Amino acid sequence: MSAEPMQRRLTAVDIRNRKGGQPVVSLTSYHAHTAAIIDQFVDFILVGDSLGMVMHGFESTVPVTLDMMILQGKAVMRGSHHALVVIDMPFASYEESPAVAFRNAARVMKETGCGAIKLEGGRYMAETVRFLTDRGIPVMGHIGLTPQSFNTLGGFKVQGRDEKGAEAIKADAVAIAEAGAFAIVVEGVVEPLAREITKLVSVPTIGIGASAECDGQILVLEDMLGLSPRVPKFVRRFGSLAGHIEEAVRAYADEVKARTFPASDNVYAVKKVEPTT
Ligand code: KIV
Repeated sequence: MSAEPMQRRLTAVDIRNRKGGQPVVSLTSYHAHTAAIIDQFVDFILVGDSLGMVMHGFESTVPVTLDMMILQGKAVMRGSHHALVVIDMPFASYEESPAVAFRNAARVMKETGCGAIKLEGGRYMAETVRFLTDRGIPVMGHIGLTPQSFNTLGGFKVQGRDEKGAEAIKADAVAIAEAGAFAIVVEGVVEPLAREITKLVSVPTIGIGASAECDGQILVLEDMLGLSPRVPKFVRRFGSLAGHIEEAVRAYADEVKARTFPASDNVYAVKKVEPTT
């Protein structure tokens, strides 16, 4: 047996127990190398279906498949060892029935080794959340602006701005929490509603475009790094990676054209073979 103390990954239970405590920090990642960089700073890494838009240039998350999520989920698991890894269930992989949701979520967990899945939807998904959590699958909910409903919402629009809409989202939050979700992503809602929801539910709310009134925050990594060409109002660019990449690629192109790269220290030496007499 190894004498090294095994570092345990955070679990869904650890995240649930953070309600009312230190804010939960999270980011998305789709790759082993970015997962390895962010792992020490975040409590959970979300392999979001936003990968369809960020990595593949789709207009929405609707075209994303289960196989795409599993492939990138495995990469993130290989790159990280501390944070809980949560993998998004893509559109049409869980809505049909609790049994279909279980089959697909179980496949995600078995093939990737992740610690939880996330699915979108409010009251109408509560039965499914209960079905999964009763059978050993930790579920993170996602309410408010649910991007997979892009076509029925008419785009990515702030939700719950009027009283009727706000009441509906509060009811969604309560239903998903009572069904056993360990945390709920609250996306694209106004600050007073985020505050009310956070007070109403006993599990952490994770905000994106939902103010600092939530129990934690999540952003798409490429957005906060300044790699995405356009970002919504709620994103702060904590870096400017696009500019750095442009600078580096320009320098590389210039040096290749000037034949100054590769230089002598980038070239393999010829092995000297002593002549035999
Ligand atoms: O897919 C995603 O990246 C998400 C987050 C934005 C919450 O669901």
